[in-house]
Amino acid sequence: KFRSAQMVSAWSEELVERLAADMQEAAEAAVREGGVFHLALSGGSTPLALFHRLVLRHFSFPWRDTHIWMVDERCVPLTETESNFHSMHEHLLQHVRIPYYNIHPMPVQLNQRLCVDEDGGAQLYEKEISRLVNVSSFHFVLLGVGYDGHTASLFPGGKLNETGGSLVALTESPIKPHQRMSLTFSAINRARTVALLVMGKGKHELVTQLSRVKDNLEKYPVTWVKPNNGRLVWYIDYDALLG
Ligand code: 6PG
Repeated sequence: KFRSAQMVSAWSEELVERLAADMQEAAEAAVREGGVFHLALSGGSTPLALFHRLVLRHFSFPWRDTHIWMVDERCVPLTETESNFHSMHEHLLQHVRIPYYNIHPMPVQLNQRLCVDEDGGAQLYEKEISRLVNVSSFHFVLLGVGYDGHTASLFPGGKLNETGGSLVALTESPIKPHQRMSLTFSAINRARTVALLVMGKGKHELVTQLSRVKDNLEKYPVTWVKPNNGRLVWYIDYDALLG
């Protein structure tokens, strides 16, 4: 599985520093080329260490020209601690000089309701991506992977190939909060670079399983991360790799 992609591994601190440096390099290249860097970030706990590293790059990272997008969001108010945006704001956004109009939270709450299909929050986000991101292709997408092989909010058994090419969808999670909004594989696989960050002994079993399985959307949605023209880099720390 890992053969078709690149893999970087190190102890967690070094790994996260390497990822922060690679992200900055991608940001600088994108800004040189087109004046803007479109970065989509995942929620969960693994990216927090990376966010802290990025904050240390406060002065050198091209924050002013960076747009922050969300890979997924839990359908809770943005003020709740379970909200991915909330934690992104706490751990990263409030510490760096990024213009507020460059920040794109997922519209999970509309008309005082949370993730209701008819409210069209997913379509709204898709429109915003199409309006601002050249050919809807993010420069860099940061993903994590859950113990059950999910990535973004794309869970096993979730009818994931029925999204008909949309970039954003409402999805269901087996773990709370159940309702989610997520980028789809169509959006993720358009990216120039996809980074999959996996850390901790708890992920060792999963990493071992993933190194053996063929693509299996039903069981391991993460195996469907296959950028069309971009590159995929797995960042796996020694704890996750060696157990
Ligand atoms: C979320 C995520 C999700 C996450 C994995 C890994 O909102 O939960 O974006 O896909 O990346 O569940 O989560 P941990 O980093 O907490 O293990």
